[in-house]
Amino acid sequence: MYWLSVLSVLTVVPLGFATPPSPCWDDMRLKHSWDSIPEKWECQGHPPAGTTIDLRVALKPHRKNALIDALYEVSDPSHSKYGAHLSKEQVAELVAPHPDTLELVGSWLACHEVPSTAVSITHGGSWLTVYNVPLTQANALLGATYQRYRHIETNETIIRTISYALPAALHEHVQTVAPTTYFGSPHALRLTSKVMSNGPTLPNGDPVLQNASSTFAPGAPLPSTCLKTITPECLRRLYNTMSYKPQARSVNQLGITGYLGEFASQSDLTKFLTLFRVDALPAQFSAVVVNGGINDQNQPGVEANLDIQYAESISYPTPNIFYSTGGTPPYKADEQTPTNANEPYLDWLDFILNQQTIPQTISTSYGDDEQTVPQDYAESVCNLFAQLGSMGVSVLFASGDIGVGGGSCHSNDGTNSVKFIPIFPPSCPFVTAVGGTTQVNPEVAANFSSGGFSNYFSRPCYQEAAVVSYLTKLGGQNSGLFNPNGRGYPDISAQAMNFLVVVNKTVVIVSGTSCSAPTAAGVISLLNDFLISKGRSPLGFLNPLFYRAPTSFNDITSGSNPGCGTSGFSAGTGWDPITGLGTPDFLKLQAALG
Ligand SMILES: *[C@@H]1O[C@H](CO)[C@@H](O)[C@H](O)[C@H]1NC(C)=O
Ligand SMILES: *[C@@H]1O[C@H](CO)[C@@H](O)[C@H](O)[C@H]1NC(C)=O
Ligand SMILES: *[C@@H]1O[C@H](CO)[C@@H](O)[C@H](O)[C@H]1NC(C)=O
Ligand SMILES: *[C@@H]1O[C@H](CO)[C@@H](O)[C@H](O)[C@H]1NC(C)=O
Repeated sequence: MYWLSVLSVLTVVPLGFATPPSPCWDDMRLKHSWDSIPEKWECQGHPPAGTTIDLRVALKPHRKNALIDALYEVSDPSHSKYGAHLSKEQVAELVAPHPDTLELVGSWLACHEVPSTAVSITHGGSWLTVYNVPLTQANALLGATYQRYRHIETNETIIRTISYALPAALHEHVQTVAPTTYFGSPHALRLTSKVMSNGPTLPNGDPVLQNASSTFAPGAPLPSTCLKTITPECLRRLYNTMSYKPQARSVNQLGITGYLGEFASQSDLTKFLTLFRVDALPAQFSAVVVNGGINDQNQPGVEANLDIQYAESISYPTPNIFYSTGGTPPYKADEQTPTNANEPYLDWLDFILNQQTIPQTISTSYGDDEQTVPQDYAESVCNLFAQLGSMGVSVLFASGDIGVGGGSCHSNDGTNSVKFIPIFPPSCPFVTAVGGTTQVNPEVAANFSSGGFSNYFSRPCYQEAAVVSYLTKLGGQNSGLFNPNGRGYPDISAQAMNFLVVVNKTVVIVSGTSCSAPTAAGVISLLNDFLISKGRSPLGFLNPLFYRAPTSFNDITSGSNPGCGTSGFSAGTGWDPITGLGTPDFLKLQAALG
C-alpha cells in the first residue's frame, strides 16, 4: 500500500539522526507574517505551560499540477475521461510529495526530536499531521511565538502566531503549516445567514403561514405569497424540481456542513415539513459530529435549521447528513478560558477525505474575508476541495452577504487602500459559489449578494469567455478596486430573502446567501440522483459543465451589490459577479445532461 510505504520512509529517517547535527536546521527564512495582530483579535499572552497543538504540514506534490489536471479531465464534459472520478488511492498518488520532500521534512522533525510515532499522513496524502507538539517545540520548529489570542466579539481564544519561518531548504517542499498565521476558528468564520431584524416571528395559524403552506396544483402559476415569503413550494416551482421523483436514495446523499457549534433540530425539521411539505414528513437527517462539534437538540441554530430544512425539503427523499465541526471545549467559568487550536476547514476536510463514502453534493454557508486567510494556506485548502471534486463530489459554498465588501474595505497589505474584499472559500476556483437573488418573475440580484474577483486565484479557463465578456462590458468601472485577472465568483445563484424557517418551534424569516447554497445544493442533488439512477457518474466538480450550459440557468439581469462606498457590480445578460450564470432550472439541466 502506498500509505504504508510513505510512512515507512518517515519512520526510517530519524534513525540517521540519532545525534542531531548542531546547530539543528537553523537557517530559518520567513514563511508568512502579518504586520499587526489581525483585526478583532487581541493577544492574551502565553498559553498555559504544557499546552500542545497538532501541527499540519502541507507538502508540495511531486508532480505540481497532476491533481488539478486530473480534476479538469474528469470534470470537462468534452473530455474522454469525463465522469471517470478518481479513487482515494488515485488521488493520493497524484498529490504525493517527492520522496526527497518526505526525507527532508522527516529529518527536520527528527532533528527537533519529534518522535516518528507522532507523525501521520493526512488529508488525502498531501499533508503530514504531527500530533501533540508542545508549544516550545512548535516555536523552535517554526521560529514562531505562539500566543493565546482572544476574539473581541465572541471571546473565543485561539493559539496562533503572528509570523512563522521554515528552514530555507524546506521552502520548496512545504506549502504551508497550520495552525500558524490563519486566525480562523469555528466561531470567527462568517455566518452568512441573518434572521431579519425586523422580521416577525409568525404565530401558528397566521394567515401568511396558511397561504404559504397551502399546496399548489402542478402547473399552477407561482403563488403570489412567493413575492413576500419563500417556502420549499416556491423554490421547487421556480427551479422546476416539482415533477422529479428521486430514485437513487440508497446511493445518493446530500451533506451540509456546520461550524460554530451550530447544529440542526430534528423536531424543528418535522414541524417545518408539517407546515410546508407534508409529503416529506418522514424525512430524518443524520447528524455527524466532527472533532468536538456539538449536537445539542435543545439549542438549535438558525443557520443549521435553515440549511437542513431547505436542503431536505428540496431533495427529499435523498438522505441528508449534517456535519457539525469543531465546537469549543466545555466552557469553564474560571480564568481557564477554553482555547481552540483547531482549524475549521482542515478538521472537516481531514474527516471527510477519510470517509469510505462521501456525499455526492455538499453545501457550506461559512467563509472569511480572503485577505485574512494567508495565501499559501488558502491555496492548500482550495486544493483539498479539488481533491473532493476529483472524487466526484460537488462542493457548493454560499458566496457571502457583504456585496463587494463590508465595512471600510481597507486592504491589509500595508497600503491600507480601499479594495473590494473577496470571500474565501467561494473565491477558490474548485468550488461552486452560490450568490443570492430575490423577487420572482423575474428574479433580481439580492443587493447583499457577495461577488467579485479573487486576489489569490487567477481566472480559471472554464470561465474565461464568460468573465472576459463581463469585464469588456464593465469598461473602466471600479477599476483599481478589484483584480480583473482573478477568479470571478459566484458561479450560480438562488433565492436568498425571506425564507420561512422553524427555529425552536417558531417560524422566523431568514435572509442571506445561506439560503441560496442549500437550495442550489438540493437541486444539484436531484440531478445527481437522476444520473446515478441511470447508472451514470455523479456530476462532481460542476463549474466546467455549468459554464458550457449557460442556457440551463435563468439569467438574472438586474440588481447590483453595493459596498465599499461604491455601487458595486451590476447584474446583466450573461455571467456577472453577483448572480453568476443565474438560478438553476432542473428540467433544462436534466435535458442538457441527456
Ligand atoms: C465577552 O466577555 C465580556 C467580558 O467578560 C462579556 O461582557 C461579554 O458578554 C462576552 N461576550 C460574549 C459574546 O460572550
Ligand atoms: C391569503 O390568500 C387569500 C386568498 O388568495 C388572500 O385573500 C389573502 O390576502 C392572503 N393573505 C395573506 C396574508 O397573504
Ligand atoms: C438593499 O435592498 C433592501 C431591500 O431589499 C433595501 O432596504 C436596502 O436599502 C438595500 N441596500 C442598499 C445598500 O442598497
Ligand atoms: C432556542 O431555545 C433555547 C432554549 O430555550 C435558547 O437557549 C436559544 O437561544 C433559542 N434559540 C433561538 C435561535 O432562538
